[in-house]
Amino acid sequence: MRRDIILNNDWKFAKNEQLAKVYPNDWQTVNLPHTWNNIDGQDGGNDYIRGTAQYVKSFNTSQFDITDSSKDIYLEFRGASMSAKVFVNDKQVENHCGGFSTFRCDITDYIKGGDNKIAVLVDNSENTTVYPQRADFTFYGGIYRDVYLVVADKNHFDMNYYGSNGIKITPQVNEKNAKVTCEAWVTGGDAVVFSISDGEGECFRSKAAVSNGYAKTEINIDNCHLWNGIDDPFCYDVDAQLEFNNEVVDCVNTIIGFRSFFVDPRKGFFLNGKSYPLRGVSRHQDRLGVGNAINLNMQKEDIEIIKEIGANTIRLAHYQHSQEFYDLCDKNGIVVWAEIPYITNHMDEGYDNTISQMTELIVQCYHHPSIVCWGLSNEITVGGKITDNLLKNHNDLNLLAHRLDSTRFTTMAHAFMLDIDEPIVRLADVCSYNLYFGWYLGELEQNESFFDEYHSKYPDAVIGFSEYGADANPELHSSRPVKNDYTEEYQCIYHEHILKCINDRPYLWATHVWNMFDFAADGREEGGKKGQNQKGLVTFDRAIKKDAFYLYKASWNKREKFVHLCGHRYIDRCEDKTPIKVYSNMPAVTLFVDDKEFETKTGDVVFDFEVPISGIHKIEAKAGMCSDVITIKKVDSPNKSYFLEEAEPVINWFDKDDIKQGFYSIKDTLGTLKENSDTKAIVDEMMNKMIASRGDVAKSANNNAGLQKMLDKIPLESLIKQAGKAVPEEMVKQLNASLQQISKKSGNS
Ligand code: GCU
Repeated sequence: MRRDIILNNDWKFAKNEQLAKVYPNDWQTVNLPHTWNNIDGQDGGNDYIRGTAQYVKSFNTSQFDITDSSKDIYLEFRGASMSAKVFVNDKQVENHCGGFSTFRCDITDYIKGGDNKIAVLVDNSENTTVYPQRADFTFYGGIYRDVYLVVADKNHFDMNYYGSNGIKITPQVNEKNAKVTCEAWVTGGDAVVFSISDGEGECFRSKAAVSNGYAKTEINIDNCHLWNGIDDPFCYDVDAQLEFNNEVVDCVNTIIGFRSFFVDPRKGFFLNGKSYPLRGVSRHQDRLGVGNAINLNMQKEDIEIIKEIGANTIRLAHYQHSQEFYDLCDKNGIVVWAEIPYITNHMDEGYDNTISQMTELIVQCYHHPSIVCWGLSNEITVGGKITDNLLKNHNDLNLLAHRLDSTRFTTMAHAFMLDIDEPIVRLADVCSYNLYFGWYLGELEQNESFFDEYHSKYPDAVIGFSEYGADANPELHSSRPVKNDYTEEYQCIYHEHILKCINDRPYLWATHVWNMFDFAADGREEGGKKGQNQKGLVTFDRAIKKDAFYLYKASWNKREKFVHLCGHRYIDRCEDKTPIKVYSNMPAVTLFVDDKEFETKTGDVVFDFEVPISGIHKIEAKAGMCSDVITIKKVDSPNKSYFLEEAEPVINWFDKDDIKQGFYSIKDTLGTLKENSDTKAIVDEMMNKMIASRGDVAKSANNNAGLQKMLDKIPLESLIKQAGKAVPEEMVKQLNASLQQISKKSGNS
């Protein structure tokens, strides 16, 4: 029988293989999981070390009792990013490209009796062949998941096929009857016994003869116990035993779940024949201080937080996550969108890598009942034109996914500027869009108008909401929150709007908040933080659940009754009457001020109060047996720590009544202003000035038809605000004065 020996301890590590050869005393002793970017990859400046580092481990065969030459010996890496060259006793045995999947090397012929040396050159440098290369997250380098020495009998399940465990168990459910196709690929052996047990005494067995290294059988299970999402995530255990001369020589196991699902373009996602709207979050794997070198307890903590918010789906972006985390999703009934890091920029030379990463993702994750789809790419049109190579790459990935797995559908996450009429939008079986109206640009209302336009134009095409979010720093606060102020209060306003947008559109097959957790993007420096994307509903260290977390908990978590007072961190208030927001999944909330009953409100999730303040006040919200308390204080001048020093003053050049009605103004959308030749000339001149000052991004925007179509829906005033200092106030006033000279009665000339 095989032995999996963990090899995580006592590796010598050096940040550069040249350095290691010349200065051996620069070696550090590290234990895996390990990354060399856990600090510099999270502190801003986009300057984290990317290059090649070396990990070396010496061992004696007697340590692991592998002197017996009748064994096959493998090294198994669960994750080394982004590429790894593996040497045994100075001979190269593997070059694996892809930082998120398991890979194995057969080292049987390279191991010698006595002392042996394993060396691994790990590389996360920039290149044109391995994804990801351009994205909004840190590409950590390191052997950041476990490493095993696998000692197997000469007769064993195949270990050379893209890191799979050599079996493929395919359940097909009809009502409550399941037919399970059991396949195995083996070296040696003469029969395979498959067992499927429900852990409650029922066990279904079938034996298949091996022929040419392959064995196949079918097992029927009537009245099976369905895997039914968060309500009943029932899994079966599968064991496969390889026999040789009637002796069991190898055994592998997995879990499976019996479920059926489909997506309807008008009614969304269905699980086991019932409507099951997928409403949840996305997750990056990394964490403050440890980078991607996380342990099982950290992953368990993440899943508990996701269960608390009540999500029934997770988009595990933008790469293959650990097997442990998919297992946790299986056992907690959380539906998963899995994907490869084919992201932002298509690279012609990256074709092979997308194929190998997608193959590894599917064969290694095939058995997880939580996974329902394979994501082909993320915002791949952002980095350039839709070329024939890009389309071929996607079509081939789509065919590959269907060939490897006929039970799941494929999907893509599109960037908001991708024109909905582009054929690539509907290349995969289903698709979703990443929209950031109300954060990066435009107004919140454009989210719903986008989906309504799409759905009315393509009523038979399934559409989802794969990303949306707004950054919030829990130290920043305002009673008059505005877009891009990075306050918790604006994040709440944003998500309240989007949650209503989602609840009103059952045709959205899945929606995923971007993001469950803040995560590292070393190129960022904003919102008072360096190196982080702060769109998380929870902070990077998992210590703070931001107020918006409780909006979704109130909407999704029906099990745990609670009431949450927003503003635990917003103590100093300037105004005489201050807004007090409560999130709760109870039907009514009563507010007490200094222990005196103030007001009771009934509502649905969101309860807004206005409270007069004059000193220090205890504010308490009660609902049934639930309660929450905050203390706030009336102050004369704003607490400077609540807003960013460099914060742009809230620009409000003109109130509605400053504007001459019946004449054009900056309150009109770009599209409206383009319809009249005189106003179009004025706007073109201003846009050219803006582009000149905003460099290539604005230029590419100007050339991007899909984005232009999007911008045409946005009021000119909002676009100018977005441009920040690029458009000085004087220019805005002159611009508006010129537009106000032109009567709308002059029509579209
Ligand atoms: C994009 C992208 C994410 C990124 C997000 C953001 O949609 O897919 O990876 O983090 O925008 O800008 O926050």
